[in-house]
Amino acid sequence: MCGNTKIGVFDSGIGGATVLKEIIKILPNQEYIYYSDSKNNPYGDKTDREILEICDKITKYLLKEKCTIIVIACNTASAKSVNFLREKYKNIPFIAIEPAYKMVYDYAYEDPTLIMATKGTMESEKFNLLYEKYNNNKTYLLPCVGLADIIENGDDKEIKKYLNDNIKKYKGIVKNVVLGCTHYPLIQKQIKEVLGDVNFFNGAEKVAEHLKKTMEKNGNALNKTQTIKFIDSQGLESKKQRFYEIIEEKNC
Ligand code: DGL
Repeated sequence: MCGNTKIGVFDSGIGGATVLKEIIKILPNQEYIYYSDSKNNPYGDKTDREILEICDKITKYLLKEKCTIIVIACNTASAKSVNFLREKYKNIPFIAIEPAYKMVYDYAYEDPTLIMATKGTMESEKFNLLYEKYNNNKTYLLPCVGLADIIENGDDKEIKKYLNDNIKKYKGIVKNVVLGCTHYPLIQKQIKEVLGDVNFFNGAEKVAEHLKKTMEKNGNALNKTQTIKFIDSQGLESKKQRFYEIIEEKNC
């Protein structure tokens, strides 16, 4: 596949901006469309069928917009829909994020680890295969029901309360934290305030590398300028603003 590339990126909301941000670091000059599906947020508690239908609909939309590569910037959507999408849209490369548990295996195998992800991700077959493959027998699994939603709404007080109620018990016990939902990198600072000096593992960097390799392999031409179009499924202006803040923020 040669010629111009158009990269579609989607998530249930603004969390996937943390993935796009990593992508832009190594592929700055591309044409991007980011689809924030606030209408169906959160994905974490939805059934497999619901997620498949939602992801299929978004894919159709991105293809109509002439995207040539699609990045699933949501762990829940990736875990539940990537096999289906790859099977259905055989000519489109799908780059899918997954919780960075292999990175723990590669770089910090000895250390106790907390994996934070949505309930949907943790119950998925894809995640369980990953977990069994790289299990270091010192790993705590925490389905963070409702957390992505709280982050999406951006209420700092609520975020702090959630973390105190749910992750404080791991303080002094875990050294690694896998941010298994693309919303969680947005609260690294608050997690550190509760858990102390932990090491974070985030799958976004691998997604960016995978995308770059795929484009090189497919002979996709590099564009000369960067364009980022933002779409929210409810047309919310507040999401658009938050999205560009994340993309432009230096320390996030
Ligand atoms: N950002 C998401 C993920 O990586 C989805 C969060 C949600 O909508 O529940 O799983």
